[in-house]
Amino acid sequence: QKENFVKIIEVSARDGLQNEKGVISPATKVELIKRIVETGIRVLEAGAFVSPKWVPQMATTPEVVTKMKVDPNVAYSVLVPNMRGLESLEKLLQSVPASSPPPTDEIALFAAATESFNRANTNCSTEEALDRVLEICERAKPMGLLLRGYISCAGGCPYEGAVDPKKVGDIAKKLIEAGCYEVSIADTIGAATPQVMEAVLNECTRHADANFYAAHCHDTFGTGLTNVLQMVKMGVRSVDSSLGGLGGCPYSPGATGNIDTESVVYALHREGYETGIDLDKAALVGDWISAEIGKPNGSSAGRAIVAK
Ligand code: HMG
Ligand code: MG
Repeated sequence: QKENFVKIIEVSARDGLQNEKGVISPATKVELIKRIVETGIRVLEAGAFVSPKWVPQMATTPEVVTKMKVDPNVAYSVLVPNMRGLESLEKLLQSVPASSPPPTDEIALFAAATESFNRANTNCSTEEALDRVLEICERAKPMGLLLRGYISCAGGCPYEGAVDPKKVGDIAKKLIEAGCYEVSIADTIGAATPQVMEAVLNECTRHADANFYAAHCHDTFGTGLTNVLQMVKMGVRSVDSSLGGLGGCPYSPGATGNIDTESVVYALHREGYETGIDLDKAALVGDWISAEIGKPNGSSAGRAIVAK
């Protein structure tokens, strides 16, 4: 991979939609995934095998991943919070005929840097959250699944406020030991500034190089893009973002969307990085999905491009 290539992980179909209260049909989600792939995006999150009692919007994930057209050059990841989720995924994968490509070969695991957020998001302590991750990894590896880790609340916690960067580094270490090929450092509530993310990344790079990590920034206070650029400047080469700036975690009150893919791609291209993404096409998809779910387009870059 070229040194100036930045991989975009498109999270709109999962992080982007999980907080939406209205019914979004599986057909719309399948269409979104198809359009995402048409922009040149090669890694995306297709959904989550989480409890429908906790996150109703993701209940249709099995149907979505079964119905979506699978491009063998694209990685479709799904979020798995516990063994129950992995077992459902395993059953689904076993039901796919051997002649067709499996809908997913990658799972995303998550633990937060704070006790309160783990409790709110997954009903367990930090230690239990990490134990669950380990247990899932052990079972998922022989299934041939790639493992991607998330550290939530790396840039701040909705319940505990500022977070000690060292705590984030400690979790990164555990996720690396569990076998994750990449760890995404998440500013779940979008409270961080570049200095905060720099301190966090400096702790994490004690355990792996910067290009092992991904930036997952929410944009609550408008600092998402500058945080992403700071992390890329420091050597991060993977960025999680969401078309139209859709998103928000149900257990992060007041937090708004993920940083929008359109502004990330615009800024990266202008700064001399490559993403392989057609920005004009991406802007149209962001505009389309926003309209489809009845929201104004949350991407200023997207609005500017569509208005041209
Ligand atoms: P719990 O209530 O402690 O678990 O939740 P439980 O085992 O008692 O199960 C409760 C019910 O859910 C039971 O149903 C289970 O069968 C069912 P009942 O017996 O009452 O009918 N259940 C499941 N159903 C389907 N799939 C499953 C599953 N597990 C249990 N996998 C649990 C614990 C972890 C399940 C729950 O807390 C949960 O699902 N949490 C996920 C929350 C979530 O999805 N949050 C958003 C994603 S994370 C995020 O957005 C952050 C990220 O973007 C990075 C960042 O920005 O920070 C990744
Ligand atoms: Mg998120």
